[in-house]
Amino acid sequence: MTSRLTIRKPDDWHLHVRDGAMLKAVLPFTARNFARAILMPNLVPPVATTADAAAYRKRVLAALPPGSTFTPLMTCYLRDDTDPDDVERGFRDGVFTAVKLYPAHATTNSAAGVTDLKKVCRVLERMEKIDMPFLMHGEVTDPDVDIFDREKAFIERTLIPLTKMFPGLRMTLEHLSSKEGVDFVHSAKPQVGGTITPYHLVQTRTDWLGAGLKPYMYVMPVIKTARDRDALRKAATSGESCYFLGTDSAPHPFARKVNVNGVPGMFNSPVALETYAKVFEEEGALDKLEAFASVNGAKHYKLPLNAGTVTLEKSSWVAPEEVKVDGPDERAIVYRGGETIEWRVVGS
Ligand code: NCD
Ligand code: ZN
Repeated sequence: MTSRLTIRKPDDWHLHVRDGAMLKAVLPFTARNFARAILMPNLVPPVATTADAAAYRKRVLAALPPGSTFTPLMTCYLRDDTDPDDVERGFRDGVFTAVKLYPAHATTNSAAGVTDLKKVCRVLERMEKIDMPFLMHGEVTDPDVDIFDREKAFIERTLIPLTKMFPGLRMTLEHLSSKEGVDFVHSAKPQVGGTITPYHLVQTRTDWLGAGLKPYMYVMPVIKTARDRDALRKAATSGESCYFLGTDSAPHPFARKVNVNGVPGMFNSPVALETYAKVFEEEGALDKLEAFASVNGAKHYKLPLNAGTVTLEKSSWVAPEEVKVDGPDERAIVYRGGETIEWRVVGS
């Protein structure tokens, strides 16, 4: 049995680190294990222009622990009125790595998102021309579509037409949550890649709702059935180049998460790499963890592979239930908090 594993230093291709005191509290958990992360732009107000992203990147760099070599990769929050020239400038200047689509009202802080893709065709055309990646929150918001079918409907109604309209546009379907999502990405590779979170690999909706409501498991896209989870596990551990690591770690203040109208998003960076290792071990695929965590995503984004390594060891520890955030009574609940975690990162 493998009890120690060294892999090339991984990247997190989908991460929320927020801003201000929350940024300061959560960023170190990512910076200690990951070389780079694609930072989501859904702040309030959103990171929508090159100037916004340059300023946000500065705040992120200032929040890093001393000596950290972590690199934040910035994204542009696509809006109906996004200027293609600004997007191109940001990409060419190395400020933007990608553009992120939030269909308006699909998830946390998406009110300023796109109301109709027809309105952003000029931006997509430009991105195709300059080979700039397009990241998608792939869910429809049509109230007639059941919440468990939103990803599937997005693929049918939006993504398939988009791949035909922009065959040269590199895309990522973020936080895959369904068998349909997994299968579609496979059928559309290499144009389309997909990120997979640790929690969609572990939990089912029965864990979320079946034995006491667990507000911390409320995420978008929602956690689905065992059939979906098993398809995701098979995909992630296959080593196939179209699937890669994206934690979607998304901290919220405790009072917003545990609320009569709670917000979606799960803070998992304190246990993310360790949880992926557990899944890969259970699937007998520890030899594929490096491809998923450290190779496939970089290749999809046409970025160099990281030089360093991380070492994981099979040695248990207990995850903290919450992380303190500066400010009166502020804290964020941690995914798997209080649980015994099987793997530990011992060096990077
Ligand atoms: C994310 C957040 O909180 O910003 N929430 C979530 O449930 N995943 C946004 C997102 O990625 O959908
Ligand atoms: Zn997210």
